[in-house]
Amino acid sequence: MEPMEEPKEEPMEDELEIIHAEVDSVLKRYESNPEKLIPILQGVQAKLGYLPKEAMLQIADAVQIPEVEVYGVGTFYNQFRLNPPGKHQIKVCMGTACHMTGGRIIMDSFERRLEIPEGETTPDREFSLERVACVGCCALAPVVLVDEEVEAKVRPTRVDGILLGFGMELPSANNKQKEEGREE
Ligand code: FES
Repeated sequence: MEPMEEPKEEPMEDELEIIHAEVDSVLKRYESNPEKLIPILQGVQAKLGYLPKEAMLQIADAVQIPEVEVYGVGTFYNQFRLNPPGKHQIKVCMGTACHMTGGRIIMDSFERRLEIPEGETTPDREFSLERVACVGCCALAPVVLVDEEVEAKVRPTRVDGILLGFGMELPSANNKQKEEGREE
C-alpha cells in the first residue's frame, strides 16, 4: 500500500469551528474509545470529506493516543484523504486495462493543466485529482471519473475539453509562450 502524502491545505478560519464541532460529535458517538480510532477517523471523514490536521490533533487529544500514531493511521490507509476534496473530483483509473491504454498519459495531462500532482487539490479548491483502481468498465479504457460520471476512452486531447466544460480558463498558445518567455 502506498503511503499518503502530507496534507498541504490549511483549513480556512471559519472552517475550524465546524471541524471542532463535527469531530466532537463523532468522538461522543464512540465515547472517545481509543480502540475505535479507525471508525472515528472514518466518521470524521464522512462528515468533513477529509481529515484535516486539526481534526487529527483533536482526536489524538480525546482518545489519548500520541498525535504521531493517529497521523500514522490517517496516512497509512488509502481510504483516508488529508486534503479537502475539490468542488469537482477527477479520478483517473489506473487499473491494468486503463494503465495499458494510456492512463498515465491522461494523468500527466491533468497534472499539467491543473498544476497539481495526483492526490492534491487546486488552491482554489475547484478540482481535486486522484488515481483509482479499476472502476469496472475496462472495455471503455482508459477511463476517467469526473464527479462520478464515466468518461470513456479518454485521449489527452479530451482533458482540455473536460476542464473547459467546468469553465476553467486554459492558457492560449500566445499566453503560454509569454509565460515561458518564448515570445519574440
Ligand atoms: S482498469 Fe480501468 S476500468 Fe478497469
